[in-house]
Amino acid sequence: MSVLIKNIKQLLQVHDHNELILKGNDMKHLSVIENAYLYIEHDTIIEYGDMEYCEGIDAEETIDAKGRIVLPAWCDSHTHTVYAGDRTAEFVDRIHGLSYEEIAKNGGGILNSAKTLQNTSEDALFTQSMERLDELVRMGTGAIEIKTGYGLTVEAELKMLKVIKRIKNESLIKITPTLLAAHAIPQEYKKDKKAYVDKIINELIPQASELNIAKYIDVFCEEGYFDLEDTERILKAAQTYDLRPKIHVNQFNILGGVALGVRYNALSVDHLEELNDADIEALKGSDTIPVALPGCSYFLGIPYTPARKIIDAGLPLALASDYNPGSAPSGNMNFIVSSACVKLKMTPEEAINAATINGAYAMGISNMYGSITRGKKANVLVTKPLNHYREIPYNFSHNPIEHVIINGQLKPMKNPEENFRI
Ligand code: NIG
Ligand code: FE
Repeated sequence: MSVLIKNIKQLLQVHDHNELILKGNDMKHLSVIENAYLYIEHDTIIEYGDMEYCEGIDAEETIDAKGRIVLPAWCDSHTHTVYAGDRTAEFVDRIHGLSYEEIAKNGGGILNSAKTLQNTSEDALFTQSMERLDELVRMGTGAIEIKTGYGLTVEAELKMLKVIKRIKNESLIKITPTLLAAHAIPQEYKKDKKAYVDKIINELIPQASELNIAKYIDVFCEEGYFDLEDTERILKAAQTYDLRPKIHVNQFNILGGVALGVRYNALSVDHLEELNDADIEALKGSDTIPVALPGCSYFLGIPYTPARKIIDAGLPLALASDYNPGSAPSGNMNFIVSSACVKLKMTPEEAINAATINGAYAMGISNMYGSITRGKKANVLVTKPLNHYREIPYNFSHNPIEHVIINGQLKPMKNPEENFRI
């Protein structure tokens, strides 16, 4: 199957050389070809360029993208898309004044989601998660990281991994699985957290590795959850199983998790709503990418990650949705890109770079995803008619997307009722 997209008003994120990450000032530039074409064969980007060089290309399917923008599909590097039920009751509690931390202390929060997940069958969990994923693809997500972490028992964590594996097999979009081994301390271990960390190290990580699904290890390094010592023990144990860290740090408090992550060669350190100069220094010269999650700040009303401080220090930055039932119940990357501009003061160019190529880097897949480059996977978005790519973040909460192409296959988006399964 071959597809030619012609008369593209602006083709975004074009790189002749296979860039893997954009840092600091380089993030300010978004490479664009005006009045362009893009040619895809099977699942691969074959050629692109100025419309004047398009003649003679004979494709099985041609899309006239007149007035539309084409860009790589969003790469969402931090999500908890596999979960059961919802937490709308806690949402109302927060409206009435309870904080996220207070709700968690009263046995709500992650423990609440874990209880629901433990009582949900693998099939039901799969169905619920797949429905969410279908919606995300319609909103332009073409690659996504999915974490475990709502199991809180070995058995339930393995169930989550199996569900993620089924999703990986059924969905055409790229799935990157992460074992969020230490997400919260179960009630029965409240008085003996060490015993729970031992269980993670001696049972969960080895058994999860036998399933050979997860690529990354995650820990919620935070006051009231897992401290630096717990985090280090888990990261060390995970090294033996080749699980590279992608960790939750600095959401509410600075414990030193950023430097620890860098020391263990973390692929990413995520959240960073709180961030100090020592954290910035630790990240300099490392291969670890910071990840901002503005949907979480929006929903919880906590500070936004200081993106300017990060980028202006010459560091890279990725944007992700953090899609989860407690702190960010939306995986809409169009909104994430928009809120990064409005709240993190990122330019549209920086935000689009952060949600495509840098998002792919934060999943370890930027050699194949995240830019318009010959040989990369053909996961691309065709927008509705727009005057400029700046309208993508400007028209916040609109869905700018008309078509999604995943692995070279066109998904019609005109009829929102159509619940396509990819
Ligand atoms: O990234 N911070 C830890 N984990 C999730 C929230 C989990 C929840 O509240 O269910 C997050 O925000
Ligand atoms: Fe998260």
